[in-house]
Amino acid sequence: MSELHVVDHPLVAHKLTQMRRVETPSERFRQLLTETSLLLTYEVTRELPLVDVRVTTPLTESDQPELLDEPVVVSILRAGNGLLDGVLRVIPSARVGHVGLYRDHETLEAVEYYCKLPPVQNRMVIVVDPMLATGNSASAALEVVKRGRPAAIRFLCLLAAPEGIAALHATHPDVAIWTASVDECLNDRGYIVPGLGDAGDRIFGTT
Ligand code: URA
Repeated sequence: MSELHVVDHPLVAHKLTQMRRVETPSERFRQLLTETSLLLTYEVTRELPLVDVRVTTPLTESDQPELLDEPVVVSILRAGNGLLDGVLRVIPSARVGHVGLYRDHETLEAVEYYCKLPPVQNRMVIVVDPMLATGNSASAALEVVKRGRPAAIRFLCLLAAPEGIAALHATHPDVAIWTASVDECLNDRGYIVPGLGDAGDRIFGTT
């Protein structure tokens, strides 16, 4: 039951185009990424379960819905941190975990070098990384998160390559993907085309 949700919204499309431009400086890129992640979070949280609670308004008592549980957000280092500002503006009290992975040059496997997660058991977890490229680090991060036995996991990214979507669907068919765009392909260096370059470098001004 693999799911893919492409967020189709003019504001998201417009901001993404500005982020793709090579001349967009880091400061503006970060601002656009925060604004876009805020809009994407609105979509990825659309079906969160609600529970009725009794409230007293200035006029009367009434049963009204509130979130059953706040989701946990997990950022894949380092580019995932670029999405956190926007996500946390929409869900300010969410707990946040971080997973760091690097690619072993010999085995090409993703190797975990950092993991700090809040309790995720029976919670919905939103794993964030701007770029779903090969899907290797996303798959490995999802393995790590699943050790904590969450109720469900959603993967939120800005851009996805068809190759990354296929890889994630194959390794984690239970994880639904939300993205602002499905781009054309990966190039031979694993970059998404047309893409926006290295998301971490664009966010943090490194090269
Ligand atoms: N990671 C990036 O930052 N950019 C890509 O195009 C692919 C992976």
